[in-house]
Amino acid sequence: MEPRILDGRAVAAQVKAEVAAEVRAYRERYGEPPGLAVILIGDNPASQTYVRNKETACREVGIASAVYHLEAVTPAESVYRLLRQLNERSDIHGILVQLPLPPHLDPQAIIEAIRPEKDVDGFHPLNVGRLATGGPCLVPCTPRGIITLLERSGISIRGKHAVVVGRSNIVGKPAALLLLQRDATVTVCHSRTPDLAIVTRCADILVVAVGRPQMITGEMVKEGAVVVDVGINRVEGKLVGDVDFATVAPRAGAITPVPGGVGPMTVAMLLANTVEAARRLAGSPEAD
Ligand code: GUN
Repeated sequence: MEPRILDGRAVAAQVKAEVAAEVRAYRERYGEPPGLAVILIGDNPASQTYVRNKETACREVGIASAVYHLEAVTPAESVYRLLRQLNERSDIHGILVQLPLPPHLDPQAIIEAIRPEKDVDGFHPLNVGRLATGGPCLVPCTPRGIITLLERSGISIRGKHAVVVGRSNIVGKPAALLLLQRDATVTVCHSRTPDLAIVTRCADILVVAVGRPQMITGEMVKEGAVVVDVGINRVEGKLVGDVDFATVAPRAGAITPVPGGVGPMTVAMLLANTVEAARRLAGSPEAD
């Protein structure tokens, strides 16, 4: 049977239209747009592309973005100084440091130097802890994008067995927490899981975020499962996911394509997080 294609581009366009309206309302009320600062350190080509996409998306919805492109050899102290300035600025409501960082910089220490209220990636321990305990927080963009894509596609999560493959702080762990919050039964698998296929075949909802091209193949997926592919891998000049679309799609009930699935949702959620951060910083009651 043909699976349903979960169209991240279409849902992201809906979200962006809503964010654009929120940005207009914010501007009318406060006289300035929400502002996002993006820090890019070094010349990682994939990071440069992601940052360009984020800038373009900000422009589309009316968020003021400022990109700080620092040299790969920038000393840690200069990064902290910039973060202290951005933390203080009233026209900057969101701060994002693009990962990965050059090896001399400690990503956790840098994340912790971002004011949690401006941490639009949701990576600061205060936001991570609030996500785990169910408090108000900024939610990491890719996991929030996955949930929004499922919910807006009419896929119910409650009572389902969700299997998350990958345990990164950016995707796997927060995705598992959000699914659990929505009453899924959640299993998290990783590189040390023996007999991965036995577990993935139990999934009603399978979320794959491992960064290994096409590692999930048809026989690892239950008939009718909802498959969410977070991978973006470049293989022989072509973008492919962590899911082998050709063998998985015929068994799946619904599946995200790569490109055009989770990727556009991540960017849309960054915009939503930036407006949310701006409203909370302004003390606006609509923020929650
Ligand atoms: N690198 C890959 N994904 C992300 C993300 O969601 N946020 C940041 N800051 N860097 C990333």
